[in-house]
Amino acid sequence: MAGDRRRENASEESYNPPRSETYDLDLAVNMQLLKILEPVTSDTLEDASDVISSGADAALKRALSVDAVVSTSSSFAHRNTAAQHEKPGDFRKIGAGACGVIYAPYGHSVAIKLSRANNTEELRNDYFMHMRIIDTFQTCGITRIKIPKCYGFVSKDDQKFWDNNPGLSEASKQVCHLPTYALLTERILPLPEPTRTLLIDKFCADRLKSRAFKDASNNDCVVRVYLGSLKGKSGGMFFSLRNLKLHLNQMIELKIDLTSMASDMATALAAMHWVAKTDARDIEFILASSTENLPQITTSEVTTLPLNTSIHPQKFNLEDFHHRKTTLWLLDFNQVRQITMDETGIAMAIEAFNINDPYYPKPLQQHPIAQELWNTFARRYLRMSLDILRGETDDIQKLPGLFLNGVVEFQQKKLECVARAEG
Ligand SMILES: Nc1ncnc2c1ncn2[C@@H]1O[C@H](COP(=O)(O)OP(=O)(O)O)[C@@H](O)[C@H]1O
Ligand SMILES: [Mg+2]
Repeated sequence: MAGDRRRENASEESYNPPRSETYDLDLAVNMQLLKILEPVTSDTLEDASDVISSGADAALKRALSVDAVVSTSSSFAHRNTAAQHEKPGDFRKIGAGACGVIYAPYGHSVAIKLSRANNTEELRNDYFMHMRIIDTFQTCGITRIKIPKCYGFVSKDDQKFWDNNPGLSEASKQVCHLPTYALLTERILPLPEPTRTLLIDKFCADRLKSRAFKDASNNDCVVRVYLGSLKGKSGGMFFSLRNLKLHLNQMIELKIDLTSMASDMATALAAMHWVAKTDARDIEFILASSTENLPQITTSEVTTLPLNTSIHPQKFNLEDFHHRKTTLWLLDFNQVRQITMDETGIAMAIEAFNINDPYYPKPLQQHPIAQELWNTFARRYLRMSLDILRGETDDIQKLPGLFLNGVVEFQQKKLECVARAEG
């Protein structure tokens, strides 16, 4: 009977399909996306993969794919393996930005960001926002993008810290005004030597190559992924593997899986907006590497050993520096600000999105792959956001759509300005 009634109802205009939470969410997402998605001008993500790439490009594509494991026998890997048994001694500079200079000891996955400005606010904010966003990723079960573990914040007055780390004072005294504030985090491991070689071969001008191979600073190789820029060029006047910028056109050429990267960035941004309630200002997404712990001895190996054999590593949790997994990392939280759940907060989030380096896909692009990536990004962002905001008031649930609209409007104005300037 009930079945008959359903069939009768189905023929009426007022028929309402059975609704579930997922159905409502899909409906809300799709309605809002009407204004935001791009009509893609041709089918391309597949087309691009048909082009046969050179052996070196295929190797680089593999090395830069998230979760690829690259074996390395570099001196960096040997030195780190040996140094795991020692106290942190020598520190070397591994990176620098406007706010901090970053040092790391060999053999210990620790990075120390020293404040350039010697004031407490920036690094303290870095510390707090870093912790908050780690918590957010844990709450949301986000694992495809890693955030360095956060070990602590050192005050400028903590003389004991400096006394215990003379190697750090020695390495940084020319660059920073010591003592200063410090943020202690997990070190993001650089891309391993085979990947660095492929990157130099592919992107460095021939005349700079031999210097690039010798330059020790290129060992600290991390790659910024700019899904929102098509302006990548090879063979420039300067070349550095520290924060090498890989633009969308270069990643398309290498046929790296961009869809999942765009989707992962959207998930991360939605979580930073609506769970952490931050604007994610000036954060960075980089491709670098991570290690697994050294494998334990297997059961069959144990049975072959004499009964009395002592079996244990000299230290626990030793890392396998010789096998490195390519990993997308999120870092640099000193400019992140808290936002309110209203239009003022959205205005801050839009501004932060627009001033950031072009990690995220952009709307209103001409390149069909860029259009598809924006669609992937917007769809995933909205779905994740509305999932998080389920049960909130309508006023709050409309904020993610307002954010995306604001990003589109900004880009529209920017393109109009460029068109006017070009006359
Ligand atoms: N934990 C880390 N492990 C490895 N490299 C890092 C780490 N933190 C920062 N870096 C490197 O140092 C650079 C500067 O650090 P960042 O936190 O971005 O400083 P700033 O806030 O001054 O921009 C980064 O772009 C990155 O290349
Ligand atoms: Mg930075």
